[in-house]
Amino acid sequence: MPFLLGIDVSTTASKALLLSDSGEVVASQAAEHEINAPRPLWSEQEPSMWWEAVQTSVAGVMRKAGVGAEAVVGIGLTGQMHGLVLLDKSGQSIRPAILWDDQRSARECNDIREMIGLDALVRETGNDAFPGFTLPKLMWVRNNEPGNYARIAHVLLPKDYIRYRLTGAFGTDKAGAGGTLMLGLASRGWSDLICDSFEVDKNWLPQSYEGPDVTGVLRDDVADQLGLRAGIPVVAGGGDQAAQAVGVGAVHPGVVALTLGTSGVVFAGTDQPLTAPNGAAHAFPHAVPGRWHMMGVMLSAAGSLRWYHDTFRQGTSYDELLTGTDTVVPGCQGLSFLPYLSGERTPHADPNVRGAFVGLTHVHDAAHVTRAVLEGVAFGLRDNLDLLTNSGLPRPDVVRVSGGGARSDVWLQIIADVMDVPLAKVASTEGAAVGAAMLAGIGAAVWPSIDAAVSACVRLEGEVHPDAGNVSAYGEPLARFRSLYHALAPTFRVGAD
Ligand code: XUL
Repeated sequence: MPFLLGIDVSTTASKALLLSDSGEVVASQAAEHEINAPRPLWSEQEPSMWWEAVQTSVAGVMRKAGVGAEAVVGIGLTGQMHGLVLLDKSGQSIRPAILWDDQRSARECNDIREMIGLDALVRETGNDAFPGFTLPKLMWVRNNEPGNYARIAHVLLPKDYIRYRLTGAFGTDKAGAGGTLMLGLASRGWSDLICDSFEVDKNWLPQSYEGPDVTGVLRDDVADQLGLRAGIPVVAGGGDQAAQAVGVGAVHPGVVALTLGTSGVVFAGTDQPLTAPNGAAHAFPHAVPGRWHMMGVMLSAAGSLRWYHDTFRQGTSYDELLTGTDTVVPGCQGLSFLPYLSGERTPHADPNVRGAFVGLTHVHDAAHVTRAVLEGVAFGLRDNLDLLTNSGLPRPDVVRVSGGGARSDVWLQIIADVMDVPLAKVASTEGAAVGAAMLAGIGAAVWPSIDAAVSACVRLEGEVHPDAGNVSAYGEPLARFRSLYHALAPTFRVGAD
């Protein structure tokens, strides 16, 4: 039986997973990463640490699954997007990688906007300049570390450093390339306008490939070390959100994917390069050839519930925490929660906004407060869905939901009611690595197409339908939530100054 190896170089761990041709996850193994914050707002990791973690997790998954080297026929890569990895001409890392959640490059974002204008930037790349994106971080190195800048021979994304170690080739996927702010959205190729305007040498950039394309083959020495067969194809794969979407079958327009993890992502495939006004939502190519996607990313989704649990209800299980929340009326009798604990990315590109409980009275008990957190996150997700539909995306027929938060039936009902759309629960909990392995299966000719891979691998386990009464009951609380951002944002800004 052929197996596909999916490797996810996430922020917290590198995970390796084996997928069978009938879509079963045979085994998975993760090895954790440390994150370094040498200064406030900075977030860095050593590329060599990813490589060690990948070696550990691949060896571990092969041992767990008990399969021989000859059984694995292809490798797909996914991972944290937007990170800046700089290599010199001998392939050595020049400085620690600067990660997607690093906020040091706000000034460079302003410079980029000023230099070519927001309209032109969005027209060319589909996006505004966010500090997490790769180009502003490259500009930061130019402005602050000229010695390092002068040594650059290769600019890579985190998972593409692993591709280099596996194959010796410099390549990336189109979805990940979109997240650098250096790709032409419509052309799906590196942008002359951007590279010329910001003096980015195109020779630094890896070749960009569609998700299932073969980018190289496994090197002999590495194959021996990992217990795999030399020469097996390594496909492009996708940035973590695009690969996650493949893993839940969100590959056609009309099927939207919602990932309820630490962050909350609303991801919609499109068959043309749509963009949001002022680039307020992300617009990148999909990992599916010839398709694009738009997505809204709220920074604290299940992360808000975890913060609330860890801060106020530590020692209670999540089941106990949620007890009684299903009988609180929609809107929590005037209590609102703003889930902006880490600032926000979309629809409010606002690093200074903060979380808040507003409207507390003596009537509110613990269940009200917990439910307010669940509702606040749901309102943020609805804001993101509306951002996409206001940018030309048709209203979805169904939203496929995955991630840790999707284990709560109460929360799913609240989200279905607030978004006014049915949710379909996805069985697999393994995330983006499944999508990467599926893309490998297409590249290795295990499946003839993305649709064949989806029908072999993606299983749904039930739907949650909106309740018409609750949908209308949420009208006023949603309006209240929206007005609170505008009322409170200036006060947070004053605090941040
Ligand atoms: C997507 C994003 C995150 C990172 C880290 O835009 O920033 O998904 O890729 O997981």
